[in-house]
Amino acid sequence: MSETVKLIVDGREFEYPVIVGSEGERAFDISRLRNETGMITLDSGYGNTGSCCSAITFIDGEKGILRYRGYPIEQLAENSTFVETAYLLLHNELPTADELAVFSRRLNSSSLIHEDMRHFFGAFPNKAHPMGILSTMVASLSAFYPLPDELDLSAEEQFMANLISQVRTIAAFSYKKSIGEPVMYPSIKLKYVENFLNMMFASPVNNYHLDPDIIQAVELFLILHADHEQNCSASTVRMAGSSQANIYSVISAGISALWGPRHGGANQAVIHMLESIHASGGDGREFIARAKQRDSKTRLMGFGHRVYKNFDPRAKILKAACHKLLNKPGISNPLFDIALRLEEAALSDSYFLERNLYPNVDFYSGLILKAIEIPYDMFTVLFAIGRVPGWLSHWREMVHEEGFKISRPRQIYTGAVERNYLPVEQRDKVTR
Ligand code: CMC
Repeated sequence: MSETVKLIVDGREFEYPVIVGSEGERAFDISRLRNETGMITLDSGYGNTGSCCSAITFIDGEKGILRYRGYPIEQLAENSTFVETAYLLLHNELPTADELAVFSRRLNSSSLIHEDMRHFFGAFPNKAHPMGILSTMVASLSAFYPLPDELDLSAEEQFMANLISQVRTIAAFSYKKSIGEPVMYPSIKLKYVENFLNMMFASPVNNYHLDPDIIQAVELFLILHADHEQNCSASTVRMAGSSQANIYSVISAGISALWGPRHGGANQAVIHMLESIHASGGDGREFIARAKQRDSKTRLMGFGHRVYKNFDPRAKILKAACHKLLNKPGISNPLFDIALRLEEAALSDSYFLERNLYPNVDFYSGLILKAIEIPYDMFTVLFAIGRVPGWLSHWREMVHEEGFKISRPRQIYTGAVERNYLPVEQRDKVTR
């Protein structure tokens, strides 16, 4: 007999089935809870709530394990490319050589954005944050690439390619706008990452030298950011997508959620933190002391994770990549030394150890981006480019699930109980 959990509410016993995942995680399914008991569960921040079953990404936060479709992140980081990893996430299997060639060609031929959209960039103020531009422009793709009423598989493949490919073009165009240079168009001759770097850094009067080490570093960054199961932005994508909203607006919602400093925005915040420590001439001890004060708003950025209570495997890979890239002649970054010292200090401090706070993906990723001269404001944009295949995979998994429902949590109301409306002349501070 399959496992169940018994719950006693008001002296009555209720039984709920236990769902077991392929890696042995267990949950009790409370779908009938409110109907049967009249009660709901309350789980602020969703730390104990499974919002779906998913076959995309597996994380074991205690052991520091991350796998996409069963493949360990370390193996993908070592051997794969971002485009191949995107294919894997979307299609559940690594592609054959032919499948990869078709997918790459589709991405390449989908990389232009409608020429009228190019003019939108001129309307943003120069100082506009590129994440705001990205989110707006991705939503506006819906006007230029309308979806057919019936979404068949081929239409789905096409708009997924549009999103993966065009997000990179929009990102590079927004950077060009911010520095007052003409945009560089994508080229059919270049691969995904090369194209991005070329659109960012080449200009009509300057060729950009495509350094294989830099290409590899960006590939690695994008692979490591491609998915991370039910994080804040992926959950936002599932939530927005559950209303059957247009996929472009759904991905735009994901981009907005990612922007915050507790999520993708942390990679930019880490560099600000390292720079402020560097500028003050300190070794970070004072910053750590501030981050430990309970009444302070300061946090050690790039540390801590809702799921990892051990090393984030992506941080380990990025730390090794920093050693490799930053030891290259001509590229130097004194902030790396500060980061290493901060990590060492935090990991020998009881505050961080007791709370299981370890470096997360954002702790070292900004150093890589800084070393290859990606501007700060673009850090979270690169995270977004990497995450698009993951968001699309979650959306796709959800909408193809039989009987999928709109997401609609409940609440425990704590406001005023019923009261009568008073005309304005009868209101005073006392009645309030
Ligand atoms: N520095 C100092 N204290 C921290 C930190 C930190 N970075 N992170 C958590 N804590 C403390 C927190 O004050 C709390 O202490 P106490 O128990 O005394 O109240 C305890 O650790 C638990 O923190 P929490 O906020 O309840 O944990 P959470 O799981 O809700 O938050 C987090 C996870 C990632 C939002 C948080 O660790 C954080 O704000 N870290 C810094 C921002 C960051 O690096 N974000 C990137 C996350 S990974 C990539 C991504 O998701 O995009």
